[in-house]
Amino acid sequence: MKNVLIIGSTGQIGSELTMKLRNDIPEGSIVAGFIKGAEPKGELLESGPAEEVDVRDGARIAWIVDRYRIDTIYNLAALLSAVAERKPLAAWDIQMNGLLSILEVAREKGCAVFTPSSIGSFGPLTPHDGTPQDTIQRPLSMYGVTKVATELLSDYYFHKYGVDTRAVRFPGLISYETLPGGGTTDYAVEIFYAAVKGEEFVCPIGAGTFMDMMYMSDALKAATDIMNADPSRLVHRNAFNVTAMSFDPEILYHKIRERIPGFRMRYEVDPVRQAIANSWPDRMDDSCAREEWGWKPSFGLDEMVDDMILKLRLKFGYKM
Ligand code: SER
Repeated sequence: MKNVLIIGSTGQIGSELTMKLRNDIPEGSIVAGFIKGAEPKGELLESGPAEEVDVRDGARIAWIVDRYRIDTIYNLAALLSAVAERKPLAAWDIQMNGLLSILEVAREKGCAVFTPSSIGSFGPLTPHDGTPQDTIQRPLSMYGVTKVATELLSDYYFHKYGVDTRAVRFPGLISYETLPGGGTTDYAVEIFYAAVKGEEFVCPIGAGTFMDMMYMSDALKAATDIMNADPSRLVHRNAFNVTAMSFDPEILYHKIRERIPGFRMRYEVDPVRQAIANSWPDRMDDSCAREEWGWKPSFGLDEMVDDMILKLRLKFGYKM
């Protein structure tokens, strides 16, 4: 991996992945792909090349691949689960037609492709505790439908055309740089903003709802380690279960209260997000990722909570 195109570079994952790759591969061209209205700013804009690109525009993707001799494409353009329920046709269009246009360019030009899957690729029939790598995937949400189709289409291009597709199934991602927006696991980010600002948090997910979660630095490690892995060791490809922690809103609330004693939370459950959360795993088994490419997270719950509070206080310029 040397010259990389990140499609969706201004989103929650893309904004941090682009900067990590620019630091890790200073000799490469790390191109920040963005759509109109979500232009890169500040360090993201100044530290390397940026190109406007709609994920569905194969001709434009091919032009960027030629211009920068791109060898790897990170496809991070997606509508998250709650938004996808409101706009199912748009979610299908962006997720599926976008993926097809990237895979076609990759097939012609020999690029590797990473398109993340998610805990959203599972459904109510999936075993929820210790969810295995290979198991029932019958999601009920449009987000989940597109994620299962993404896994299948990515594997299809690998088996049929030899396109080097690899990916992970991300859990809820917790970060302080860029807000996620429109996901079911967003509460686990928003709760920190409320706590650090001294506001009450209104939680849209009910007590007792467990989901897998991960701190962003581990998610970036997963996204790069999988692409750098020795292909001869990979039994699976699209996509690997990866997790770092599992909690419900009560557990997270109490962890934050241990550090910010006056913090208050109440519940106002959103039925759409709650139904999605109920259908997702409580805790995934990520042993295949550990065995096949050495996956191991660094941040557990306590380390994550400490770092989120510290980084948000710095971000808001609060005195420490
Ligand atoms: N974080 C995503 C969501 O909640 C799941 O991958 O939609």
